[in-house]
Amino acid sequence: MIIKVPVRKLKIGAYLEKIDQSWLSTPFLSNRFEITSEKQIQKLKDSGITEVYIDTGKGLDVSIEEQSLATEESPCREYLGLSTDRLLVNTILPFDLYIKDSGDYILYLRNGLPFHLEVHYKLESKRVNTVYIAQEDKGLLEKYEKDHEEDRRLSQQGLAPGFESQEKVRQYNDYLNNYMPVEPGIFIPGLKIPVNLYSEKETAVRLVLNAEAIVPENEVFSNGTNGSARRNFLIHVNDMGRYKNFLKELASGKISDNSEKASKARAAVIKENTKLAAKDLLDNPRSGEAIKGAKGAVSGIMETILENPSSFLGLMKINSYDYYTYIHSINVCTLSVGLGISLGLHKNELFSLSMGALMHDVGKSKVPSNLINKPGKLTDEEFVLVKKHVLWGEDLLRANGDLSKTTLIPLLQHHEKLNGAGYPRKLEGDKIHLFGRISSIVDVYDALTTERSYKKAFKPFDAAAFLSKNKEEYDQEVFRRFVKMLGSQKT
Ligand SMILES: [Fe+2]
Ligand SMILES: [Fe+2]
Repeated sequence: MIIKVPVRKLKIGAYLEKIDQSWLSTPFLSNRFEITSEKQIQKLKDSGITEVYIDTGKGLDVSIEEQSLATEESPCREYLGLSTDRLLVNTILPFDLYIKDSGDYILYLRNGLPFHLEVHYKLESKRVNTVYIAQEDKGLLEKYEKDHEEDRRLSQQGLAPGFESQEKVRQYNDYLNNYMPVEPGIFIPGLKIPVNLYSEKETAVRLVLNAEAIVPENEVFSNGTNGSARRNFLIHVNDMGRYKNFLKELASGKISDNSEKASKARAAVIKENTKLAAKDLLDNPRSGEAIKGAKGAVSGIMETILENPSSFLGLMKINSYDYYTYIHSINVCTLSVGLGISLGLHKNELFSLSMGALMHDVGKSKVPSNLINKPGKLTDEEFVLVKKHVLWGEDLLRANGDLSKTTLIPLLQHHEKLNGAGYPRKLEGDKIHLFGRISSIVDVYDALTTERSYKKAFKPFDAAAFLSKNKEEYDQEVFRRFVKMLGSQKT
C-alpha cells in the first residue's frame, strides 16, 4: 500500500515511492528506493520536504514502526562544541555542522559543503559563536585543522590560497578591472571578430585570437559552452565600444541562419547586451543614458523569461569564474523576475521589481574594488564599509526622477531580514516590502551559488536547503515559491 507519511517519521527500511518535488532528483539519483541510512532521511529534511509517499508492500510501514518504538528512548548523541573562529571561510567542511536551538542540536551545514562567507555572516547575525560537531567526528576536525594550517596563516593576513601575497591580490584586481568576461557562445567558427580575445588562467591573461581574425574551427572554439574545460573568454575594457558595435551587427542579421549554433549565438547576444547595459549602469549610475539602456535590458530579460517560463534560468544565467557586481546584478534581476512571475505580479510591478533588482548593488560602485574582490575575509572595519553600499546606492539614485519609489525598494531592503537582523535599517516583519522579501532571498542565493576563483559554490539544491535553515530571516511563502520555481526549471 502506498501511504503518505511525514518525513520526521521515516525510518531505515521504509521504501520511498514518491517525492512531490521533481528537483529532488538532485540529492538522489532516483526518487524510488529503500531508505538504508539516517543520512538519506536527513537529506530529505534538509530539503524542507515535510511529507513523502512510501510503499508499505516493499518496505517498512513506519506508522506501525512508530507505535512499537513509542516507549523507546531516542538515541542520545554526543556533541562537541567549538568556536566558529576555528572554521575557515571558503574551506570545505568534512563534518556535519550543528547549531543549538532551544536545547536541540540542528544540522546547519552538511559535510562536504563550503564554509561560505555567507554562512559565516549568517552565524554572526544569529550571534552564534559556538557550533557543534558529532563527538565521533573529532578526528575529522583535527585533520581539517592540520590540513588548513597554512590557509589559516594566510587568512590572518587577509590573504587566501592562490593569493599568497599582496602583489598577487593587486594583480588580480587589475585583471578584474581591465577585462570583461564575454559569452563563449558568441564566437562561432567562421565569424570575424573585431577585438582581441583573451583567456585567463590563474589571473594571467593570454591572447587567444587577434582582432580582425576569423574564429577558427578548433577545440578552443568549437565546443561552445558544452566543452568540459573551463572556458573564460575576455575582452579588454577599452574594446567595449567596438564589441558593442560588433554585437549590433550580429543581431542585425549576420547570424540569421537556423543552425543550433546560430540560435545559441542569438541568446548569447541578448545576454551580452544585458551585461554591457548593466556594466554601464554600475559605472555611471547617475547617467540618464545608462538608466535608459538598463530599462531596455530589463525589458529583454522580462520578455525572455515570459517566453521561456520553464527554461529561463539555463538561458539567462551568466556563469563567470570571478565576481563582477554587474553579473551578480543581472542574475539577481533574472531570478527576481522569475520569482515575481510565480508570485503573480502584474507586468508594471514586475518591471519595477526587475529594474530595482538590476540596480540593487549600485552603491558598490563606491566601495573600493579591492574590498569587493578581497580573497580573504574582510576585517570588521572593512565589513562596515562594504555595508554602506546600501545607503550610498540610495544617495546615488534618490534624486533620479526617472525611477519610481518602488523601484528603489530592492536596493533599500535587500539586506533587511524578517527578524530584524538585517541592515541598514534593521526593518522587521511587515516593514519589509514584498520586493525586499524577494530580493533578500534571491541576493543571497546568487551569492551562494556563484563560483569565484577562490571560492567553492553551493549547488542549487544545497543553497536552497541551507537557506531553509535560516527560516526566521525570510518570508516563508516567498521562499516556498522560490524553491518551487527553481524546481520547475528544466536543466
Ligand atoms: Fe548588496
Ligand atoms: Fe547583491
